[in-house]
Amino acid sequence: MLQILKLGGSVITEKGRLATAKKDVIERLAREIASARKEKEFQLVLVNGVGSFGHIPVKEYGLKNGMKDRKTRKGFAKVHKYVEDLNRIIWDSLEREGLIAVPVHPLSFILQDDWKIVKFETDVIEGFLKQNVIPMLYGDMVLDLKQGCSIISGDDIVPYLSQKLDVDRIIMGTNTDGIFDKDPNLFPDARPIPEISNENYKKVLDGISGSTETDVTGGMKEKVRKLIERTGGTICVIYNAEKEGLTKKALLGERVGTILSIS
Ligand code: IPE
Repeated sequence: MLQILKLGGSVITEKGRLATAKKDVIERLAREIASARKEKEFQLVLVNGVGSFGHIPVKEYGLKNGMKDRKTRKGFAKVHKYVEDLNRIIWDSLEREGLIAVPVHPLSFILQDDWKIVKFETDVIEGFLKQNVIPMLYGDMVLDLKQGCSIISGDDIVPYLSQKLDVDRIIMGTNTDGIFDKDPNLFPDARPIPEISNENYKKVLDGISGSTETDVTGGMKEKVRKLIERTGGTICVIYNAEKEGLTKKALLGERVGTILSIS
């Protein structure tokens, strides 16, 4: 049983404050993961979003158009340093809970061409999984053949891995209760949708709007669209990781948030 858990940047960082981690939330999430692993045997890949460790400096250094001069080269290195700092905070928390994990830094082995993945070997990740070590990946800046560098989002890494590895479930920890029939920030009567299937997914996509916060990779609509388009067949759960206990429940296969089952 292999699961991918993605922890969204809004859950684990203060999105509006540069490089500020929600350390207590990260500690709690590590406890929930450890507790789920005590109750059930499963392999795990952890992917984290980077929130204010990535989106803010990407804007500051003008990195959306690639790497072309000293300022953007400096920014590229700086952003990676920030996202590595965040990953280290998560790693420390996992370790405190007795979980054995190692970082697999996207910048060191993934190549893109015009924002699309062209090289991403998974044998090292598979090797760690065989050893029952948790590989940790995260949104990062990587080299890009067309424009020098581009962003790879955790939301790109998750579907890619789900196609390459034999993944049973994708679990997306976000800061909302799942996918709503309309934007809950704008419509108080918005309701979470328990299940998205072949029958209702088009209607659902029309109802979701993009994120309103500083997000250079597109917010919830992009997240769902990528998941629907690229994970074909793999069950995917989108739930609220800010609520205590739900991460453990999701990892144990209990019903939380919205389940995406599109074949
Ligand atoms: C973005 O990663 C990476 C950078 C901006 C360098 P994600 O897209 O995975 O991060 P969140 O979840 O939106 O914060």
